[in-house]
Amino acid sequence: MTGTVNKLRAWKRLERHAKKMKKIEMRDMFEQDNKRASKFSLQLESMLVDFSKNRVNEKTLVYLLELARVRGVEEKIQAMFSGEKINFTENRAVLHTALRNRDNTPVYVDSKNVMPQINEVLAKMRKFSEAVRFGKFIGYTGKKLTDIVNIGIGGSDLGPVMATEALKKYKAKDINTYFISNIDGTACAEVLNKLNPETTLFIVASKTFTTIETLTNAKTCRKWLVDALGEHAVAKHFVALSTNAAKVKEFGIDTENMFEFWDFVGGRYSMWSAIGLSIAIAVGMDNFEKMLEGAHTMDLHFRHTDLAHNIPVMLALIGIWNNNFLGLRSQAIVPYDQYLRLLPAYLQQLEMESNGKFVSADNEFVKYDTGNVIFGGAGTDVQHSFFQMLHQGTTPIPVDFIIPAISHNEIGDHHEILIANVLAQAEALMKGKTVKETAEELAKAGKDKEAVDALKKYKSFPGNNPSNTIICKKIDPYTLGMLVAMYEHKVFVQGVIWNINSFDQFGVELGKKMALDILPELQENASSINHDSSTAALIRYIKNLRK
Ligand code: F6P
Repeated sequence: MTGTVNKLRAWKRLERHAKKMKKIEMRDMFEQDNKRASKFSLQLESMLVDFSKNRVNEKTLVYLLELARVRGVEEKIQAMFSGEKINFTENRAVLHTALRNRDNTPVYVDSKNVMPQINEVLAKMRKFSEAVRFGKFIGYTGKKLTDIVNIGIGGSDLGPVMATEALKKYKAKDINTYFISNIDGTACAEVLNKLNPETTLFIVASKTFTTIETLTNAKTCRKWLVDALGEHAVAKHFVALSTNAAKVKEFGIDTENMFEFWDFVGGRYSMWSAIGLSIAIAVGMDNFEKMLEGAHTMDLHFRHTDLAHNIPVMLALIGIWNNNFLGLRSQAIVPYDQYLRLLPAYLQQLEMESNGKFVSADNEFVKYDTGNVIFGGAGTDVQHSFFQMLHQGTTPIPVDFIIPAISHNEIGDHHEILIANVLAQAEALMKGKTVKETAEELAKAGKDKEAVDALKKYKSFPGNNPSNTIICKKIDPYTLGMLVAMYEHKVFVQGVIWNINSFDQFGVELGKKMALDILPELQENASSINHDSSTAALIRYIKNLRK
């Protein structure tokens, strides 16, 4: 089904409904219905997703589910899993789910079952990661490889760096992981300064193997290694993760040392593929496979559960409601778990690169908002930074709170304090504190009328700020897999409803190309500088400073 999404009856009905809902306070809905929490939450195994602190009622859900149905969400879910080429601008299947298809049921792309090749690479990853971990694949001078450097950017960095941090407790004691992504020479220098070439393994991770940042960083690292150990050492200290064997070879890495994946795996959906090699070396292949199993559990839930009980679908619909109908375009992600501190950055790419699109599947410019602005950080740190704006800013900012019931580090009462904080934040954002309540509180605390009047507005809280609370038992590899897959599918459903392609990323091209034009102009002897007056002046100014 196509058509302009915001012209659909289901959309129009939601717009009318939103006018009424905007006047309703969540705190009143909670007071009127003591079953609200159970009505508006879903559970999968030990993961609970409570979306009751949103400005929704039963009707809202009925209308949102109707929108999902008329947009063909059920059919699109099946189309993705069955290998249809739903990435229509690039004519590609979208099969990150096949990478973690632990049932090994056949999945076909162009009539070919892709499972055998996926299993082959997983077996190669197991063999190699174990050989490195147990000192069988060793460096050129015979030393154990203990320092693993992943060189990649975007999807070839954010998944591995986030997951190795999230699973730090599972990491082998004698393995250190490092990540070089930024083209800024400092990124390379700071990592290389810490390392001994004899014990260092470089993993060059790039789907295309054409990304300038990654290739430049890899060349610098290669030179550093060759300067220390000679050209022959490269085969023992460099491996590549890519879909592009020709480019890997051209770079000087033997394709024997290449771990393959395929163009049906998008960059930001690739940590389940060979791109996860650094994760597998750090935490072991058994744990890597547990992560795949967790994701698979979420996949099965997503694929086979009706829309109303489907966690990723409901999260997607709540997000659409907040964005398109309540006008709340930001989304904060706040994990209350130190090990998940990089999850917001990971989800920022996942959501914003997937759904930051302005052309519909009908080849028309969309006339409604798409992707959300994603930001976040670890609780409680961010309570002391941007939370002021969540509590007293002029526009509500929906939040996803994520917390494990059990910490990997149960020290004293730290975790109880952490839990108390996350629950209090969600409750405070929902309830707020009216000016009247604030005045009463101030008076009770002994303030005179003048002081009460002077402060009562400043110290009040509008409340009614939406949030979801996601509770897991513990952040283990399986749970991490579930969590990340949940967000992947949420993003997918939103893309279906917005009628956009969540799987291309042409938006990153223009700036990249223009950087290549500017590069020669930065040279001392550049013949001309052809830009708008601002860019041209900035180039001249910087050149002058660099003299
Ligand atoms: O930023 C654009 C992008 O293509 C991302 O989608 C991707 O994750 C990243 O660059 C890295 O690409 P590659 O893995 O091909 O080096």
